[in-house]
Amino acid sequence: MAKHQLLSTVERRETLPESYIRPESDRPRLSEVMTDNNIPLIDLTSPDKERVITEIGLACQTYGFFQVINHGISEDLLEKVMAVGLQFFRLPAEEKAKLYSDEPSKKIRLSTSFNVRKETVHNWRDYLRLHCHPLEEFLPEWPSNPESFKEIISTYCHEVRLLGLRLLGVISLSLGLEEDYIEKVLGEQEQHMAVNYYPQCPEPDLTFGLPKHTDPNAITILLQDPKVAGLQVLKDGDQWIAVNPRPNALVINLGDQLQALSNGAYKSVWHRAVVNAAQERMSVASFLCPCNSAVISPAPSLVADEDAPVYQSYTYDEYYKKFWSRNLDQEHCLELFRTPKLQ
Ligand code: OGA
Ligand code: NI
Repeated sequence: MAKHQLLSTVERRETLPESYIRPESDRPRLSEVMTDNNIPLIDLTSPDKERVITEIGLACQTYGFFQVINHGISEDLLEKVMAVGLQFFRLPAEEKAKLYSDEPSKKIRLSTSFNVRKETVHNWRDYLRLHCHPLEEFLPEWPSNPESFKEIISTYCHEVRLLGLRLLGVISLSLGLEEDYIEKVLGEQEQHMAVNYYPQCPEPDLTFGLPKHTDPNAITILLQDPKVAGLQVLKDGDQWIAVNPRPNALVINLGDQLQALSNGAYKSVWHRAVVNAAQERMSVASFLCPCNSAVISPAPSLVADEDAPVYQSYTYDEYYKKFWSRNLDQEHCLELFRTPKLQ
């Protein structure tokens, strides 16, 4: 039997168990979150391509986040992905127990919180994590219950990958690099997915679904619940803003690797997921990740002649190991790879 129980298999609770309660200084302070601001919205079918490039570049500098509409993935598919994800978390406990694991290196696993072996306070989340590329390699191990899971999720993974690669091209151009610059540096990218399930929470002021973190990969494409808000983004280092869901939009955020490649011009911004008392919430995060042997360093053309690059070179393998060896909400992991200042 699993040591840590999935939230989605226990009965709804009236109070928050002790192990989920954050210290006073580390709570969401929901009343201070801005809800009338939002991250930039970009229409990918806009005929003015230059403008799309400029807008994405600006969003990457200021927010590290943007939403895209008319991204080419059909409304019908987005709905099916959310529906089959929810069906998965509604499966009987015995069915889900088969996939449970606390081991972060496992390529297909159902787990809870973030890293239950390391963390001191737990998070109000269950998640299914899947490796998705190359699809043929991982598909046989994916859940075959619900029956339509493999087909729906694999179609979505394929389309999300194409969208992600297209966005990496636009981001390269917005940095004044060749369109394929970033894709070449990242190598044959891995693709991971987290299907996040945040149950209704009796005391949402005392805990997080996911505490503040940055994503360690290159770019993340998030499909959010169209009706329930929960994602929040730190603006200018001090103001949390709620990303209000917009039907059919996908949320894009830059991970640490694009901050490094852009020599710090673009930001991998702190974000978090909060939970709520009224409704459960789902999100599906797709992560494009450099291949393990990719050597990441700031693009030479983005480093001024007289300056040292802001970050040292490293392999993604080194980075990823460091990321999972820590707590989510510690110092920005990229800080550990900053070029030391000369005295
Ligand atoms: C993530 C993430 C946010 C959300 O999975 O890395 O930031 O709203 N998720 O679920
Ligand atoms: Ni994230």
